[in-house]
Amino acid sequence: MTQLYLMNNDSLFLKNTVLFGGDYNPDQWDRETIQKDMALFREAGINILTFPVFAWTKLEPVEGRYCFAWLDEIIDLIEDNDFHFFLATPAAAPPAWMSLQYPEVHLVDVQGRRKVHGSRTLFCLNSEKYRERAALMAEQLAGRYGKRKGLAGWHVANEYGHYCYCGTCRTKFAGWLKNRYGSIDALNRRLNTAFWNRTYTSFDEIMVPSELNDDNVCDPAVMLAYQRFMTDSTLECFQNEARILKKATPELPVFTNFSSNLKPLDLSRMAEAMDVIGWDNYPDPGSPPSFTAMTHDIMRGLKDGRSFYVMEQSPNQQNWQPYNKLKRPGEVRELAYQGLGRGADSSMYFQMRQSVSGVEKFHGALISHSGSSDTRIFREMKQLGGELKNLGKYIVGAETCSETGIIMDWESWWALENSSGPSESLDYLAEVHKYYAPLYRRNIPVDFLKPGSDLSKYKIILLPLLYMLAPETAERLERFVENGGTLIATYLTGYADEDDRCVYEAYPGLLRKVFGLWVEETDALLPGEKNTIHTAKREYSCDFLCDRIRLEGAEPLGFYGEDFYAGEPCFTVNHYGRGKAYYLATRPEDPFLDDLSGQILSENKIRPPFSTEGEVEVSERIRNGEQIWFVICHDRDGGSIDLSAAVYEDLLSGKKLQGTIRLAARDVLVLRTCIG
Ligand code: GLA
Ligand code: ZN
Repeated sequence: MTQLYLMNNDSLFLKNTVLFGGDYNPDQWDRETIQKDMALFREAGINILTFPVFAWTKLEPVEGRYCFAWLDEIIDLIEDNDFHFFLATPAAAPPAWMSLQYPEVHLVDVQGRRKVHGSRTLFCLNSEKYRERAALMAEQLAGRYGKRKGLAGWHVANEYGHYCYCGTCRTKFAGWLKNRYGSIDALNRRLNTAFWNRTYTSFDEIMVPSELNDDNVCDPAVMLAYQRFMTDSTLECFQNEARILKKATPELPVFTNFSSNLKPLDLSRMAEAMDVIGWDNYPDPGSPPSFTAMTHDIMRGLKDGRSFYVMEQSPNQQNWQPYNKLKRPGEVRELAYQGLGRGADSSMYFQMRQSVSGVEKFHGALISHSGSSDTRIFREMKQLGGELKNLGKYIVGAETCSETGIIMDWESWWALENSSGPSESLDYLAEVHKYYAPLYRRNIPVDFLKPGSDLSKYKIILLPLLYMLAPETAERLERFVENGGTLIATYLTGYADEDDRCVYEAYPGLLRKVFGLWVEETDALLPGEKNTIHTAKREYSCDFLCDRIRLEGAEPLGFYGEDFYAGEPCFTVNHYGRGKAYYLATRPEDPFLDDLSGQILSENKIRPPFSTEGEVEVSERIRNGEQIWFVICHDRDGGSIDLSAAVYEDLLSGKKLQGTIRLAARDVLVLRTCIG
């Protein structure tokens, strides 16, 4: 069961409330506007606000001189209106005075240029001065506001994910490498620095992999080390503030909001320092619902299935897309329930009131420049706010339940995309999505797992492109198959160790025995080029990569149809212990994966909760043994769900439902079983 945080003055708030609200910037508004906002928030059903994310200078206009009177007033007002708040530390945007006095707080970019004051997120993660001032600010905030009754938790900084290449980072990186490898000889050996004479004779010679030395494209192992180091630096930066906040208010959650750009930081490691996962959901226009669903599932996986917070979504258009589409009628609601169905305990938004100017002046908001509640978006948000009031007791902290898992690994992601070859089309996350989507299409719940996760409760494990394979992971996967599990792996599995050194005993390395094959060579197909897979039943197309494999016990189930390797196996199964290990030597078209997942799910007796027609997403959450199903129609032509004979209550409409239910585009049902 998800750990639920006790509030200092209101223990039931986080425990039973679906959080609805989001980023508010009262530092940008006058008193009259803020007063009006309170009334509008009440009207919309808002219960939580996040602030003051970017107000460092207003809080500390001169080094060491703090101004809290304005914030005191706002917090009084917010509490008088019965709202709760996540108090943000303003650490994402240091003040101009700090830049002038201490230019070293600014990051040096990958091109070697020291930034100056201007935008946000331009600070060096390892700057002592930055960390000192951020910690002092956290102390002030914790001391002054830690006992406020509306305080629901601490939002540290904002969307970490930038790197720095300055002298301070260089020195710390050298120390980090020394700590990891012990001696310069060991480092030279492990990172194979003899290649292109990168050999170091002392840790003083260590460089950061930037555009000045091109190591950021030419030395994948050093790049990987730097990505790990930047994750550690970010973790330290977070903890520099979090430890202070935690000490002051041990009962409250302390966390940051992860960006929807997931790649720069190893979120599986960042998650360890978070009391709860928070993330910002900004789907690209045109990205399928399955991709957003997958990202929610990834977030749920970061803390082994615990519920999480969606901290930001846009109530309407963004400003930073090339073309900023309006959210279509019903779309905000559709996205909100998708998150809630997949493990979120909140539906929060950036932003509450649209900025009057600045780079985000055209970004949508609950309250637009019109200042009116008589807008389409305000009405839609108000409807949602009204609906969510009733749902808290059913879903907050609720779990999900799955027998199918996907192993996702940031380090493999980095290492694969750092590599020169085999194909520049390689997009790790898109590959993971490719293998996730067939399960999503069948409404089969999937857990995202880490290489170190316990696999014992799963029947099926997917292993897309697990390029780096630690011996413990290989061992765990082997046991999983021996004990009756079904494992499905792809090309680019088991190539390298944790320092990106390729195995010398043929891929898939430590899993060679489990899959009963080895990979002799891999052909990269040109964009648009295809090959074919011939199985006993039919022919499918495939693209991207074609491994030429050599069987050592695996049974071939599909064969290439084209090229000089036509007739050779490209899809195999190996019976190993009581289980089965499938290997995909090439990337199949979707119908192949739909057929394969259908077959494997039925062999494992895993069925979707309901049968549906059209693009209808069904997800399930369980709280205190009670199941709640979220049914969302993403199909523009509508769809249906078959509830058969049992009677369900739709918690949104209060209606009793049974049999086949027709759904219009963007319709949502939240179902519970009717008792009696
Ligand atoms: C991010 C940031 C916010 C804001 C929004 C705009 O997620 O965290 O401060 O800039 O994007 O979409
Ligand atoms: Zn730096």
